[in-house]
Amino acid sequence: MSQIHKRTTITAALPYANGPVHIGHLAGVYVPSDIYARYLRIKGEDVAFICGSDEHGVAITLRARKEGKTPQQIVDQYHEQIKKSFEDFGITFDIYHRTSAKIHHETASEIFKTLHEKREFVEKTSKQYFDEKERQFLADRYIMGTCPNCSFDEAYGDQCERCGSTLSPSELKNPKSMLSGEPPILKETTHWYLPLDKYEPWLKQYILEDHQEWKPNVYGQCKSWIDNGLQPRPITRDLDWGIPVPVEGGEGKVLYVWFDAPIGYISATKEWARKEGKNWEDYWKKDDTRLLHFVGKDNIVFHCIIFPSILHAEGSYIVPENVPANEFLNLENDKISTSRNWAVWLHEYLEEFPEKQDVLRYVLTANAPETKDNDFTWKDFQTRNNSELVAIFGNFVNRAVVLTHKYYDGKVPESGLLNAIDEKVLVEAKAIPNKIEAALDKFKFREALSQLLELARIGNKYLAETEPWKLIKTDEDRVKTIMNVSLQIVASLGVFASPFLPNTTKKLTEMLGMEVGDWEEAKQFDLLTDNQQIEKTSLLFEKIEDEQIQKQVQKLMDTKESNQVEEESQIAAIKDEINYDDFMKMDMRVGEVKSAVHVEKSNKLLKMTVDIGVDTRTILSGIAKHFTAEEMVGKKVVVLANLAPRKIMGVESQGMLLFAENADGKLISVSPDTSGENGSGVS
Ligand code: 2FM
Ligand code: ZN
Repeated sequence: MSQIHKRTTITAALPYANGPVHIGHLAGVYVPSDIYARYLRIKGEDVAFICGSDEHGVAITLRARKEGKTPQQIVDQYHEQIKKSFEDFGITFDIYHRTSAKIHHETASEIFKTLHEKREFVEKTSKQYFDEKERQFLADRYIMGTCPNCSFDEAYGDQCERCGSTLSPSELKNPKSMLSGEPPILKETTHWYLPLDKYEPWLKQYILEDHQEWKPNVYGQCKSWIDNGLQPRPITRDLDWGIPVPVEGGEGKVLYVWFDAPIGYISATKEWARKEGKNWEDYWKKDDTRLLHFVGKDNIVFHCIIFPSILHAEGSYIVPENVPANEFLNLENDKISTSRNWAVWLHEYLEEFPEKQDVLRYVLTANAPETKDNDFTWKDFQTRNNSELVAIFGNFVNRAVVLTHKYYDGKVPESGLLNAIDEKVLVEAKAIPNKIEAALDKFKFREALSQLLELARIGNKYLAETEPWKLIKTDEDRVKTIMNVSLQIVASLGVFASPFLPNTTKKLTEMLGMEVGDWEEAKQFDLLTDNQQIEKTSLLFEKIEDEQIQKQVQKLMDTKESNQVEEESQIAAIKDEINYDDFMKMDMRVGEVKSAVHVEKSNKLLKMTVDIGVDTRTILSGIAKHFTAEEMVGKKVVVLANLAPRKIMGVESQGMLLFAENADGKLISVSPDTSGENGSGVS
């Protein structure tokens, strides 16, 4: 299907503005899309690289409830933070827009209305859970109940977070509204459905026949959706946050976030084109435009099946040419999770590793989850930095520049006649850019990056083989040629690195006193002119020490430990039977909290000193969501005093306080009345 194109519209999935961005986001979507956009631009292509914040949907309203803010406050806060993180990492969107913008509301409403007028939608009435007290229908995430599979009684209407099973609200036992806490009733409601079944023949042709070149993970997911039979999908919701349904009967309802979010790419393009004096329709409606969506694997169906169906049904748009989706990146063998704080946040990374954006870009690309889920470990981060960026890339550039200064005062020496070794190295080097291009054209970013490193390796090997430092006394002409060839490789390496490591390219080209220049020209390995002055070497990469890595690993271990404490502090079902002796092993004492403070960077932990008569000790407890530090001070408590001490977030906890948990999850302290003397045994 692919034909000669005149321009490319590249979109990167709009992140939900309900939290900061982490390395998983970068690795999966934003680094590869940025590499691709930079690559096309340097080759002189017409590119629109589009992104923005996804500001609607239940994810936002839930976050707002959690933080006691309005949805608008939440999206304003995170939009700015996310935007800044992307800028910090050199992600060169042409626009970073947002779906709360007026132009987006208008664009999404128009497309909905067009489809409505064309009678594409099916309207259906069904029974949905409704909170009578709050007078509102409940999104799946707003219903909690007992999981039919594992009996966890805080499962959500769409998923049980304990056993991981996907649920629908009707499967929950004892469903309760999270808004009022009351059992919801079933009430009829009408929604608009996108008839995917109707588009099935078109989708089969579009994907299964015409796009067999899509990545196997993408093609496979689409095929299995299509093979399982497509059903109409509701594209409106009963919610009060989002874009109002713009047709009769739509009062109190909004467009489903997955209907409006991808349209966000179009509205962002409109805004960008308006500012740049371009025609947005060129980027969305012309057959000679290539539309590419970079997304993570959980977004595949929306970008390959649902959004193209919307565009196709509308009639005047092009559809995606490719959706080079990635799989997931794990962190130290565990799924990245915002709620468990199991992530490397971009803003925190930059605090710990200032100005090392390119190192992270490098590691995330070298280890990108292109064909399967992959694992980020701090050890691998260190190894790739030290033995690839420092030892190969940095070392080659450094040696070439230092020797040029040593022998020729930093002036590029004139090359003499090339001998067989020089010819060979140039043949090898000249093969590299084509390999980088071939890989990038297939969205194989890991392969492309490894070819870039290979070029530095070729340069290093050449210097090691020719040993100019030995020849300088005996054969100066030869050394001139060797240094000229080496510097030409350095210069071209700088250009080919530019999509991947933009800061490094900037440093390198400044050092060489050249423009980033033209990709095609760089293929000649002849960018530098004789006698051109180059600057003294500035360090491109530096070694990362064990202590820096240890600190990051420790931070994650602390997170894990505090998560465990938090999980254990949730009351579970009756445990296995024990005997009297087991019970008597526990030494429980009456105590009194003398002081209490909130542990920094933890959501739930209070650190207390507790007088238990025999001694006064430090105890950490995951209760901060239920009690303030001030409330705890002076409280009589029951302490399990002979529990083995353990370290939580770097502090040793010497015992445990006892609490009861109400049905609604509220903690009540188990407190003897004031006549209980500190140290009295409890049994
Ligand atoms: O999964 C997500 O984070 C979604 N906010 C992605 C939306 S992509 C597009 F449709 F806007
Ligand atoms: Zn379950």
